[in-house]
Amino acid sequence: MAEVTSLTKPGMNAILDVERIRADFPILNIKVGNKPLVYLDNAASCQMPQQVIDRLVYYQTAQHANVNRAVHYLSEVATLEYEKARRKVQHFVNAREDREIVFTSGTTDSINLVMHGYGRKFIKAGDEIILTTLEHHSNIVPWQMLAQEKGAIIRVVPINDAGELDIDAYKKLFNERTRFVSLIHVSNALGTINPVKQLITYARQHDVPILIDGAQAAPHMTVDVQELDCDFYVFSAHKLCGPTGIGMLYGKAKLLEAMQPFKGGGDMIESVTFEKTTYAATPHKFEAGTPPIAAAIGFGEAIDYLCTIGMDQIAAHELELLTYATDCINEIKGAKIIGTAAQKTAVLSFTLDGIHPHDIGTLLNEDGVAVRTGHHCAQPIMQRYNVPATSRASFAFYNTKSEVDALMAGIRNVQKVFL
Ligand code: ALA
Repeated sequence: MAEVTSLTKPGMNAILDVERIRADFPILNIKVGNKPLVYLDNAASCQMPQQVIDRLVYYQTAQHANVNRAVHYLSEVATLEYEKARRKVQHFVNAREDREIVFTSGTTDSINLVMHGYGRKFIKAGDEIILTTLEHHSNIVPWQMLAQEKGAIIRVVPINDAGELDIDAYKKLFNERTRFVSLIHVSNALGTINPVKQLITYARQHDVPILIDGAQAAPHMTVDVQELDCDFYVFSAHKLCGPTGIGMLYGKAKLLEAMQPFKGGGDMIESVTFEKTTYAATPHKFEAGTPPIAAAIGFGEAIDYLCTIGMDQIAAHELELLTYATDCINEIKGAKIIGTAAQKTAVLSFTLDGIHPHDIGTLLNEDGVAVRTGHHCAQPIMQRYNVPATSRASFAFYNTKSEVDALMAGIRNVQKVFL
């Protein structure tokens, strides 16, 4: 439905026509006080283009009813559009079948679903689960809960000073008790891109199922789950220009079928008596209750939007921004980048000597510059670098070099105020 107005113009040096893209995002025109907004908190949540907003309005205006429940016109339309959205997600990650895509409320929900559905059924006392230092709390805490319940053991892959995984240490953690691997594709706190294909291949060789948390990867690069050959892949829509409250779990069909449902209720059953309930086939077995229908349809529209721009163009533009921002901040005395991996997405986590990140965030906000400060829900990374927190600028395809300049001017201003 959306007409995307943001393609590269032939003959231009720029990878993307960012000014045209920005025109799709009404929120980028707001002012913070009297300063133009410079939105650099995309790793936390990305903004929504008019095309997705329009799609949500159209759904609510002309297509809304509950799904899978009735034969009337609107219920059929809503069901059709909801399932169409599932197929858009399927094609976006190149899953073999649409039943391999489960709608969840987001990345955290997806990981919890796998923990409950797979972990609680198959992981036993003494079994080992491999995680890494780079994990977001959402890929630590559920596994700790499982380990506590079952008496399982968590093993953690360390990182080097650049924020890259120690691949030899990863390989050494595998043994006859290893039952599951769950690791992040791209670190939200540092931007490190993990060599997931290599990590998956190694887990495969040991016949250990592996989940990839793609929350920070899917918005920035092409993801092909068949090529990766992972067992599970998860991400949220709101980091890809879609609505909050919706995300996806990709799981290989045979694993999803073997799993137990996480939530019980309507729509996930085949038949119910007080003696016994049988479950619907996957993915519906995991989608109890009325799903977030509008959000799923908005998710599908966001995918259309990104695909029309092109994931490779997005990645190339963001790399250009990262390179520029890295060069600029390296010129600032007292600024230190946390996370200098050779392979990174456009995340610039940094500290400023003698200034608390919270003060940096507060003063940057006065200049209209939105960054995230804190531990980024990744406290083990902060512990590894021995810092309480960092300031993090995270770029999207609609950001510009002049916004990087605004960030740098803001940082110099913070130093002037505090030092
Ligand atoms: N995980 C999100 C972030 O990194 C919220 O900011």
